Amino acid sequence: MKTGDVLTVDIISLDHFGRGIAKKDNFIFFVSNALPLEIVDIKVVKVKKNIIEAEVCKYLKKSSDRVVVSCPFYEECGGCDLLHLNYNKQLDYKQNKVKEIMRKFANLDGDKVKDIKHANNCHYRNKVIFKVDDKIGFYKKKSNDIVEVKECYISDERINKVISLIRDTSNIKEIMVRASKYTNDLMMVVDGVLSREDLNFLKEYVTSIYVKENNKLRNIYGHDACYEKLGNYVYKILPDAFFQVNTDCAKLMYDQVKEYLSLDINDVVLDLYCGTGSIGIYISDVPKKVLGIEVNRDAITSALENAKINEVSNIDFICDKVENVVNKLDYIPNKIVVDPPRSGLDGKTVSYLNDSGADIIVYVSCDPVTLARDLKLLDNYEVIEITPFDMFSNTYHVECVCLLNLR
Ligand SMILES: C[S@@+](CC[C@H](N)C(=O)[O-])C[C@H]1O[C@@H](n2cnc3c(N)ncnc32)[C@H](O)[C@@H]1O
Repeated sequence: MKTGDVLTVDIISLDHFGRGIAKKDNFIFFVSNALPLEIVDIKVVKVKKNIIEAEVCKYLKKSSDRVVVSCPFYEECGGCDLLHLNYNKQLDYKQNKVKEIMRKFANLDGDKVKDIKHANNCHYRNKVIFKVDDKIGFYKKKSNDIVEVKECYISDERINKVISLIRDTSNIKEIMVRASKYTNDLMMVVDGVLSREDLNFLKEYVTSIYVKENNKLRNIYGHDACYEKLGNYVYKILPDAFFQVNTDCAKLMYDQVKEYLSLDINDVVLDLYCGTGSIGIYISDVPKKVLGIEVNRDAITSALENAKINEVSNIDFICDKVENVVNKLDYIPNKIVVDPPRSGLDGKTVSYLNDSGADIIVYVSCDPVTLARDLKLLDNYEVIEITPFDMFSNTYHVECVCLLNLR
């Protein structure tokens, strides 16, 4: 088998990256944009031993779960891996994927995985980073070539609008736009130089513009931050701080975290990897105190202001790496929330959690594989249940919230 070979295969299932799987003559094929029960002519694009990556040249039989894709940039862009799959089937796929990963990597019964929860599945992204050369768009999958995207199906419509207003891209490398769903805030961060004309025009639409100079951000127009509302709380988000990309789904997820914590007035809560303090503040109305730990300075600056804005007085924050401080804390929590980046928990943090004695740990994760690995390592805790969330609709990604009880 070599690159460029063309052959016909039957797709039998989907892999964890949303690609169709086929098997033939001792080879395993991973085919993008192909669904189970489809018969397709494929062209081989990469060969590694008996593992073959391929793309479809012709659909000989299409799945009844395939839908007509309304995004004209879909094929070339590749940012949405599953847009061609009926949305309800996307949800089934993600739920089953979490079950499979938990069985395989954490030895957990599939019944522990509850029904997936979801909000809106189009125009949900509140933050988008566009790559720019003579055109504005996204990197093609596995390449540095930019695909021009005039309107992104999953981005907030105000983000699409503001990007369409830019005329002169000659001195710009990258543009980040953040749109708040429940305030009118619209922030733009430009890596490069906006033309005077574009800048004047944009000022009518955006509430804040930053430019990146020597890797530092400078506010050249409007407010220093975006504000967003989740339930009863308002969050200030500085340009570099993390905030969940799907606002409505984030609210569903934070409600789940709160439910799993089953808080009472005497609880002492630790919120690890707390970002802008969003979870800690969201759950702060019940417990005695909350302590958030986060490495990003912008996020902690936002978190401190968020506590003030929301008049939350029982929360504190530490700006540092979780693994550097957890073992030195003069703070004994009986409930802990962890929401680490995709890579999951490091060894020191796993040991700290195992020895913490906390009654409940709620683990929020955007990567079920690292979640499963960590759940297996947290052996002083029993996994009670896991709820998946469709935070990143139309892509293969899935967010999970897991409840663990001290054994
Ligand atoms: C998935 S986000 C969660 C943020 C927050 N819980 C939320 O819901 O908005 C992960 C956060 O962990 C922070 N982070 C990454 N590595 C860290 C570390 N070693 N120690 C502390 N924070 C870290 C990132 O800056 C980011 O804000």
